[in-house]
Amino acid sequence: VSGTACVHAGLARAGGRPLVPPLEQSTTHAWASLDSPPPVTYARGGGANVEALERRLAALEGGPEAVAFGSGLAAIDALLRTLPAGARVVAGSNAYGGTVRLLRQIHAGRLDVAWADTSNARQVEAALERPADLLLLESPSNPTLAVTDLRRCIRAAHGAGALAVVDNTFLTPLRQRPLELGADAVVHSTTKFLDGHNATLGGAVVFAAGHAGPGHDGSGAWSQRTRWLRRATGTVLAPFEAWLTLQGCKTLHLRTRQQEASAAALARAARAHPAVRRVAYPGLPDHPGHGVHRAQASGDGSILAVDLGSRAAAAAFLAGLRLFTLAENLGATESLATHPLTMTHADVPEGVRRELGITEGLVRLSAGVEETHDLVQDVVAALDAAAAQVPA
Ligand SMILES: Cc1ncc(COP(=O)(O)O)c(C=O)c1O
Repeated sequence: VSGTACVHAGLARAGGRPLVPPLEQSTTHAWASLDSPPPVTYARGGGANVEALERRLAALEGGPEAVAFGSGLAAIDALLRTLPAGARVVAGSNAYGGTVRLLRQIHAGRLDVAWADTSNARQVEAALERPADLLLLESPSNPTLAVTDLRRCIRAAHGAGALAVVDNTFLTPLRQRPLELGADAVVHSTTKFLDGHNATLGGAVVFAAGHAGPGHDGSGAWSQRTRWLRRATGTVLAPFEAWLTLQGCKTLHLRTRQQEASAAALARAARAHPAVRRVAYPGLPDHPGHGVHRAQASGDGSILAVDLGSRAAAAAFLAGLRLFTLAENLGATESLATHPLTMTHADVPEGVRRELGITEGLVRLSAGVEETHDLVQDVVAALDAAAAQVPA
Protein backbone atom coordinates (compact mmCIF):
# COMPACT_ATOMS: atom_id res chain seq x y z
CA VAL A 1 0.00 0.00 0.00
CA SER A 2 1.33 3.48 -0.77
CA GLY A 3 1.60 6.51 1.46
CA THR A 4 -0.77 8.31 -0.85
CA ALA A 5 -3.42 5.71 0.02
CA CYS A 6 -2.88 6.45 3.73
CA VAL A 7 -3.95 10.04 3.01
CA HIS A 8 -6.78 9.42 0.54
CA ALA A 9 -7.96 5.79 0.24
CA GLY A 10 -11.63 5.04 0.64
CA LEU A 11 -12.83 8.62 1.01
CA ALA A 12 -13.80 10.82 -1.91
CA ARG A 13 -13.35 14.57 -1.86
CA ALA A 14 -16.68 16.35 -2.18
CA GLY A 15 -17.11 19.90 -3.44
CA GLY A 16 -18.53 22.19 -0.81
CA ARG A 17 -17.76 19.75 2.04
CA PRO A 18 -15.07 20.07 4.73
CA LEU A 19 -11.80 18.38 3.78
CA VAL A 20 -11.63 16.67 7.19
CA PRO A 21 -14.89 14.87 8.00
CA PRO A 22 -16.55 16.88 10.77
CA LEU A 23 -16.87 15.29 14.18
CA GLU A 24 -20.46 14.16 14.67
CA GLN A 25 -20.59 14.01 18.43
CA SER A 26 -24.25 13.06 18.72
CA THR A 27 -25.88 10.06 20.37
CA THR A 28 -28.92 10.09 18.20
CA HIS A 29 -30.17 11.42 14.87
CA ALA A 30 -33.61 12.88 14.25
CA TRP A 31 -36.23 10.99 12.25
CA ALA A 32 -38.06 13.11 9.67
CA SER A 33 -41.18 11.01 10.26
CA LEU A 34 -42.09 7.51 11.43
CA ASP A 35 -41.59 6.25 7.88
CA SER A 36 -38.20 7.80 7.26
CA PRO A 37 -35.49 6.82 9.72
CA PRO A 38 -32.13 8.64 9.45
CA PRO A 39 -29.12 6.66 8.15
CA VAL A 40 -27.86 6.46 11.73
CA THR A 41 -30.52 6.06 14.38
CA TYR A 42 -28.36 5.60 17.51
CA ALA A 43 -24.61 5.91 18.09
CA ARG A 44 -24.27 2.27 19.26
CA GLY A 45 -24.78 1.30 15.62
CA GLY A 46 -21.91 3.50 14.44
CA GLY A 47 -22.01 6.88 12.74
CA ALA A 48 -20.36 9.03 10.10
CA ASN A 49 -16.94 9.18 11.79
CA VAL A 50 -16.82 5.44 12.43
CA GLU A 51 -17.91 4.76 8.84
CA ALA A 52 -15.26 7.10 7.44
CA LEU A 53 -12.54 5.28 9.37
CA GLU A 54 -13.97 1.92 8.28
CA ARG A 55 -13.77 2.94 4.63
CA ARG A 56 -10.14 4.04 5.03
CA LEU A 57 -9.13 0.81 6.84
CA ALA A 58 -10.96 -1.42 4.34
CA ALA A 59 -9.26 0.36 1.43
CA LEU A 60 -5.81 0.09 3.05
CA GLU A 61 -6.15 -3.64 3.77
CA GLY A 62 -7.77 -4.30 0.39
CA GLY A 63 -11.09 -5.70 1.64
CA PRO A 64 -14.62 -4.56 0.83
CA GLU A 65 -15.65 -3.85 4.40
CA ALA A 66 -14.30 -3.02 7.86
CA VAL A 67 -16.06 -2.94 11.22
CA ALA A 68 -14.53 -0.71 13.92
CA PHE A 69 -14.64 -1.42 17.64
CA GLY A 70 -13.81 0.32 20.90
CA SER A 71 -10.62 -1.76 21.25
CA GLY A 72 -8.58 -4.40 19.46
CA LEU A 73 -9.76 -7.01 21.95
CA ALA A 74 -13.41 -6.07 21.35
CA ALA A 75 -12.80 -6.69 17.64
CA ILE A 76 -11.24 -10.12 18.27
CA ASP A 77 -13.96 -10.97 20.80
CA ALA A 78 -16.70 -10.13 18.27
CA LEU A 79 -15.10 -12.41 15.67
CA LEU A 80 -14.94 -15.24 18.20
CA ARG A 81 -18.60 -14.66 19.06
CA THR A 82 -19.56 -15.22 15.42
CA LEU A 83 -18.49 -18.86 15.91
CA PRO A 84 -21.18 -21.35 16.92
CA ALA A 85 -20.83 -23.07 20.31
CA GLY A 86 -18.39 -25.97 20.15
CA ALA A 87 -16.51 -24.53 17.18
CA ARG A 88 -12.88 -25.54 16.94
CA VAL A 89 -10.31 -22.72 17.00
CA VAL A 90 -6.59 -23.09 16.41
CA ALA A 91 -4.75 -20.15 17.92
CA GLY A 92 -1.16 -19.06 18.30
CA SER A 93 0.21 -19.62 21.79
CA ASN A 94 2.54 -16.77 20.80
CA ALA A 95 -0.36 -14.31 20.40
CA TYR A 96 -0.72 -11.06 22.34
CA GLY A 97 -1.38 -11.80 26.04
CA GLY A 98 -4.84 -10.24 25.96
CA THR A 99 -5.84 -12.46 23.03
CA VAL A 100 -4.61 -15.53 24.92
CA ARG A 101 -6.56 -14.43 28.03
CA LEU A 102 -9.70 -13.85 25.95
CA LEU A 103 -9.52 -17.37 24.55
CA ARG A 104 -8.51 -19.06 27.80
CA GLN A 105 -10.70 -17.20 30.27
CA ILE A 106 -13.72 -15.93 28.34
CA HIS A 107 -14.29 -18.33 25.43
CA ALA A 108 -12.77 -21.55 26.78
CA GLY A 109 -16.11 -23.04 27.84
CA ARG A 110 -17.85 -22.26 24.56
CA LEU A 111 -15.11 -22.94 22.03
CA ASP A 112 -12.75 -25.87 21.57
CA VAL A 113 -9.36 -24.15 21.46
CA ALA A 114 -6.16 -25.86 20.28
CA TRP A 115 -2.84 -24.02 20.71
CA ALA A 116 0.13 -24.04 18.39
CA ASP A 117 3.44 -22.20 18.31
CA THR A 118 2.69 -20.72 14.91
CA SER A 119 6.32 -19.84 14.20
CA ASN A 120 6.60 -23.59 13.59
CA ALA A 121 4.23 -24.14 10.63
CA ARG A 122 4.36 -27.90 11.18
CA GLN A 123 2.65 -27.43 14.56
CA VAL A 124 -0.13 -25.48 12.87
CA GLU A 125 -0.50 -28.11 10.15
CA ALA A 126 -0.66 -30.86 12.81
CA ALA A 127 -3.39 -28.99 14.72
CA LEU A 128 -5.30 -28.62 11.44
CA GLU A 129 -5.22 -32.31 10.58
CA ARG A 130 -8.66 -32.34 12.23
CA PRO A 131 -11.41 -30.09 10.82
CA ALA A 132 -11.51 -26.62 12.38
CA ASP A 133 -13.55 -23.45 12.11
CA LEU A 134 -11.03 -20.69 12.67
CA LEU A 135 -7.26 -20.17 12.69
CA LEU A 136 -5.99 -17.07 14.50
CA LEU A 137 -2.48 -15.83 13.64
CA GLU A 138 -0.28 -12.87 14.51
CA SER A 139 3.01 -12.07 12.74
CA PRO A 140 5.36 -10.82 13.98
CA SER A 141 4.08 -11.78 17.41
CA ASN A 142 3.82 -9.62 20.50
CA PRO A 143 6.25 -9.45 22.31
CA THR A 144 8.76 -12.00 21.03
CA LEU A 145 8.62 -10.98 17.33
CA ALA A 146 8.18 -14.60 16.24
CA VAL A 147 7.39 -14.83 12.54
CA THR A 148 4.61 -17.05 11.21
CA ASP A 149 4.58 -18.34 7.64
CA LEU A 150 1.22 -16.80 6.82
CA ARG A 151 0.74 -18.27 3.34
CA ARG A 152 1.51 -21.80 4.51
CA CYS A 153 -0.63 -21.64 7.67
CA ILE A 154 -3.56 -20.02 5.82
CA ARG A 155 -3.37 -22.81 3.22
CA ALA A 156 -3.51 -25.40 6.03
CA ALA A 157 -6.53 -23.61 7.55
CA HIS A 158 -8.42 -23.70 4.28
CA GLY A 159 -7.56 -27.37 3.87
CA ALA A 160 -9.18 -28.04 7.26
CA GLY A 161 -12.28 -26.01 6.39
CA ALA A 162 -11.26 -23.16 8.70
CA LEU A 163 -11.33 -19.42 8.14
CA ALA A 164 -7.96 -17.73 8.66
CA VAL A 165 -7.71 -14.48 10.63
CA VAL A 166 -4.49 -12.49 10.92
CA ASP A 167 -3.79 -9.85 13.55
CA ASN A 168 -1.87 -7.25 11.51
CA THR A 169 -1.38 -4.75 14.33
CA PHE A 170 2.43 -4.87 14.34
CA LEU A 171 3.02 -4.22 10.63
CA THR A 172 -0.15 -2.46 9.41
CA PRO A 173 -1.29 -2.71 5.76
CA LEU A 174 1.62 -0.48 4.83
CA ARG A 175 4.01 -3.36 5.43
CA GLN A 176 1.91 -6.54 5.28
CA ARG A 177 -1.40 -7.28 3.57
CA PRO A 178 -2.78 -10.58 4.88
CA LEU A 179 -5.85 -10.58 2.61
CA GLU A 180 -3.46 -10.79 -0.37
CA LEU A 181 -1.78 -13.75 1.34
CA GLY A 182 -5.15 -15.54 1.47
CA ALA A 183 -6.52 -14.51 4.89
CA ASP A 184 -10.30 -14.28 5.29
CA ALA A 185 -10.17 -11.41 7.76
CA VAL A 186 -7.61 -9.08 9.33
CA VAL A 187 -7.85 -7.66 12.85
CA HIS A 188 -6.20 -4.55 14.24
CA SER A 189 -5.64 -2.82 17.47
CA THR A 190 -5.87 0.70 15.99
CA THR A 191 -4.62 1.83 19.40
CA LYS A 192 -1.12 1.23 18.01
CA PHE A 193 0.21 2.41 14.63
CA LEU A 194 -3.05 3.45 12.98
CA ASP A 195 -3.87 6.07 15.61
CA GLY A 196 -0.14 6.41 16.15
CA HIS A 197 -0.22 9.10 18.82
CA ASN A 198 -0.81 7.23 22.08
CA ALA A 199 -4.18 8.99 22.23
CA THR A 200 -6.96 6.43 21.67
CA LEU A 201 -8.10 2.86 22.18
CA GLY A 202 -9.68 1.20 19.16
CA GLY A 203 -9.87 -1.88 16.98
CA ALA A 204 -11.18 -3.13 13.68
CA VAL A 205 -11.88 -6.20 11.58
CA VAL A 206 -11.43 -6.02 7.80
CA PHE A 207 -13.14 -8.79 5.85
CA ALA A 208 -12.16 -10.39 2.56
CA ALA A 209 -14.81 -10.37 -0.14
CA GLY A 210 -17.86 -12.58 -0.08
CA HIS A 211 -17.77 -14.51 3.16
CA ALA A 212 -20.80 -16.31 4.52
CA GLY A 213 -18.82 -16.75 7.74
CA PRO A 214 -18.49 -19.68 10.10
CA GLY A 215 -21.37 -22.02 10.79
CA HIS A 216 -23.23 -20.98 7.62
CA ASP A 217 -26.36 -20.67 9.69
CA GLY A 218 -28.12 -18.34 7.30
CA SER A 219 -27.57 -15.34 9.57
CA GLY A 220 -26.05 -13.30 6.75
CA ALA A 221 -22.56 -12.37 5.72
CA TRP A 222 -19.77 -12.63 8.26
CA SER A 223 -19.26 -8.88 8.27
CA GLN A 224 -22.99 -8.22 8.80
CA ARG A 225 -23.08 -10.68 11.68
CA THR A 226 -20.04 -8.96 13.23
CA ARG A 227 -21.66 -5.55 12.81
CA TRP A 228 -24.85 -6.87 14.41
CA LEU A 229 -22.85 -8.26 17.35
CA ARG A 230 -21.20 -4.87 17.83
CA ARG A 231 -24.58 -3.19 18.11
CA ALA A 232 -26.00 -5.95 20.28
CA THR A 233 -23.10 -5.85 22.75
CA GLY A 234 -22.30 -2.12 22.62
CA THR A 235 -18.64 -2.35 21.63
CA VAL A 236 -18.53 0.30 18.91
CA LEU A 237 -15.71 2.82 18.55
CA ALA A 238 -16.60 6.32 19.76
CA PRO A 239 -16.88 9.15 17.18
CA PHE A 240 -13.95 11.21 18.49
CA GLU A 241 -11.70 8.14 18.66
CA ALA A 242 -12.65 7.37 15.05
CA TRP A 243 -11.95 10.98 14.05
CA LEU A 244 -8.53 10.95 15.73
CA THR A 245 -7.63 7.55 14.27
CA LEU A 246 -8.52 8.67 10.75
CA GLN A 247 -6.26 11.71 11.22
CA GLY A 248 -3.53 9.33 12.42
CA CYS A 249 -3.84 7.13 9.32
CA LYS A 250 -2.78 10.04 7.11
CA THR A 251 0.75 10.07 8.50
CA LEU A 252 1.17 6.31 8.90
CA HIS A 253 3.73 6.10 6.08
CA LEU A 254 5.81 9.03 7.37
CA ARG A 255 5.83 7.76 10.92
CA THR A 256 6.57 4.22 9.77
CA ARG A 257 9.65 5.28 7.75
CA GLN A 258 11.14 7.07 10.73
CA GLN A 259 10.15 4.48 13.34
CA GLU A 260 11.32 1.54 11.26
CA ALA A 261 14.71 3.13 10.54
CA SER A 262 15.13 3.70 14.28
CA ALA A 263 14.08 0.16 15.19
CA ALA A 264 16.66 -1.26 12.77
CA ALA A 265 19.39 0.98 14.22
CA LEU A 266 18.36 0.05 17.77
CA ALA A 267 18.45 -3.67 16.91
CA ARG A 268 21.99 -3.34 15.56
CA ALA A 269 23.16 -1.26 18.54
CA ALA A 270 21.56 -3.64 21.06
CA ARG A 271 23.11 -6.68 19.40
CA ALA A 272 26.55 -5.13 19.63
CA HIS A 273 26.15 -4.44 23.38
CA PRO A 274 27.54 -6.94 25.92
CA ALA A 275 24.57 -6.41 28.32
CA VAL A 276 22.17 -7.91 25.77
CA ARG A 277 21.71 -11.69 25.62
CA ARG A 278 19.35 -11.74 22.65
CA VAL A 279 17.73 -9.29 20.26
CA ALA A 280 14.50 -10.18 18.48
CA TYR A 281 13.87 -8.14 15.34
CA PRO A 282 12.67 -9.71 12.09
CA GLY A 283 14.97 -7.44 10.08
CA LEU A 284 18.10 -9.05 11.51
CA PRO A 285 19.42 -11.66 9.06
CA ASP A 286 19.92 -14.20 11.87
CA HIS A 287 16.30 -13.93 13.11
CA PRO A 288 14.93 -17.47 12.59
CA GLY A 289 11.95 -16.10 10.66
CA HIS A 290 13.87 -13.50 8.62
CA GLY A 291 13.49 -15.20 5.23
CA VAL A 292 9.79 -15.98 5.71
CA HIS A 293 9.20 -12.44 6.97
CA ARG A 294 10.86 -10.81 3.99
CA ALA A 295 8.78 -13.01 1.63
CA GLN A 296 5.47 -11.85 3.11
CA ALA A 297 6.11 -8.30 4.37
CA SER A 298 7.55 -5.18 2.75
CA GLY A 299 9.20 -3.82 5.90
CA ASP A 300 10.54 -5.02 9.24
CA GLY A 301 8.42 -2.94 11.60
CA SER A 302 9.20 -0.63 14.48
CA ILE A 303 9.12 -3.06 17.40
CA LEU A 304 12.02 -5.07 18.80
CA ALA A 305 12.65 -7.01 21.98
CA VAL A 306 15.87 -7.36 23.95
CA ASP A 307 16.62 -9.95 26.61
CA LEU A 308 18.97 -8.73 29.34
CA GLY A 309 19.13 -12.03 31.17
CA SER A 310 17.51 -11.12 34.50
CA ARG A 311 14.79 -8.99 36.08
CA ALA A 312 17.44 -6.91 37.85
CA ALA A 313 19.23 -6.12 34.60
CA ALA A 314 15.91 -5.28 32.89
CA ALA A 315 14.96 -3.01 35.80
CA ALA A 316 18.33 -1.24 35.69
CA PHE A 317 18.00 -0.75 31.92
CA LEU A 318 14.44 0.60 32.22
CA ALA A 319 15.50 2.95 35.02
CA GLY A 320 18.32 4.26 32.85
CA LEU A 321 16.14 5.24 29.88
CA ARG A 322 15.48 8.97 29.44
CA LEU A 323 13.61 9.20 26.11
CA PHE A 324 11.82 5.85 26.16
CA THR A 325 8.95 5.81 28.67
CA LEU A 326 8.16 2.67 30.64
CA ALA A 327 4.53 2.12 29.64
CA GLU A 328 2.10 -0.27 27.95
CA ASN A 329 1.40 0.45 24.28
CA LEU A 330 3.46 0.51 21.13
CA GLY A 331 3.51 1.90 17.63
CA ALA A 332 3.07 5.59 18.35
CA THR A 333 4.95 8.89 18.27
CA GLU A 334 6.54 8.56 21.72
CA SER A 335 9.06 5.74 22.17
CA LEU A 336 7.95 3.24 24.79
CA ALA A 337 9.61 0.40 26.67
CA THR A 338 7.50 -2.41 28.11
CA HIS A 339 8.30 -5.31 30.45
CA PRO A 340 5.88 -7.92 29.04
CA LEU A 341 6.13 -10.31 31.98
CA THR A 342 4.95 -7.61 34.40
CA MET A 343 2.76 -5.54 32.12
CA THR A 344 1.10 -7.14 29.09
CA HIS A 345 1.57 -10.90 29.37
CA ALA A 346 1.08 -11.54 33.09
CA ASP A 347 -1.99 -13.71 32.38
CA VAL A 348 -0.21 -16.02 29.93
CA PRO A 349 0.46 -19.34 31.74
CA GLU A 350 4.02 -19.60 33.07
CA GLY A 351 4.90 -22.70 31.06
CA VAL A 352 3.82 -21.03 27.83
CA ARG A 353 5.74 -17.86 28.69
CA ARG A 354 8.89 -19.90 29.29
CA GLU A 355 8.47 -21.77 25.99
CA LEU A 356 8.04 -18.53 24.07
CA GLY A 357 10.93 -16.73 25.75
CA ILE A 358 8.86 -14.18 27.68
CA THR A 359 11.48 -14.05 30.40
CA GLU A 360 12.23 -11.84 33.41
CA GLY A 361 14.88 -10.08 31.35
CA LEU A 362 12.77 -9.39 28.25
CA VAL A 363 12.04 -5.76 27.36
CA ARG A 364 9.95 -4.75 24.33
CA LEU A 365 10.95 -1.51 22.65
CA SER A 366 8.68 0.53 20.40
CA ALA A 367 10.59 3.14 18.43
CA GLY A 368 8.74 6.44 18.21
CA VAL A 369 9.31 9.32 15.81
CA GLU A 370 12.13 10.98 17.73
CA GLU A 371 15.50 11.32 15.94
CA THR A 372 17.17 7.95 15.47
CA HIS A 373 20.53 9.04 16.91
CA ASP A 374 18.82 10.27 20.10
CA LEU A 375 17.03 6.95 20.57
CA VAL A 376 20.18 4.91 19.95
CA GLN A 377 22.11 7.08 22.40
CA ASP A 378 19.37 6.65 25.01
CA VAL A 379 19.28 2.87 24.71
CA VAL A 380 23.08 2.47 24.66
CA ALA A 381 23.45 4.70 27.74
CA ALA A 382 20.79 2.69 29.60
CA LEU A 383 22.45 -0.59 28.57
CA ASP A 384 25.79 0.75 29.84
CA ALA A 385 24.12 1.64 33.14
CA ALA A 386 22.53 -1.82 33.37
CA ALA A 387 25.88 -3.51 32.67
CA ALA A 388 27.58 -1.43 35.38
CA GLN A 389 24.89 -2.27 37.96
CA VAL A 390 24.30 -5.92 37.08
CA PRO A 391 27.45 -7.41 35.55
CA ALA A 392 26.60 -10.18 33.10
C1 LIG B 1 -1.03 -7.62 18.45
C2 LIG B 1 -2.13 -7.06 19.30
N1 LIG B 1 -3.40 -7.44 19.09
C3 LIG B 1 -4.41 -6.97 19.85
C4 LIG B 1 -4.19 -6.10 20.89
C5 LIG B 1 -5.34 -5.64 21.73
O1 LIG B 1 -5.73 -4.37 21.35
P1 LIG B 1 -6.39 -3.31 22.37
O2 LIG B 1 -5.35 -3.02 23.40
O3 LIG B 1 -6.67 -2.15 21.46
O4 LIG B 1 -7.60 -3.94 22.93
C6 LIG B 1 -2.89 -5.67 21.14
C7 LIG B 1 -2.62 -4.74 22.27
O5 LIG B 1 -1.52 -4.63 22.76
C8 LIG B 1 -1.83 -6.17 20.33
O6 LIG B 1 -0.56 -5.80 20.54
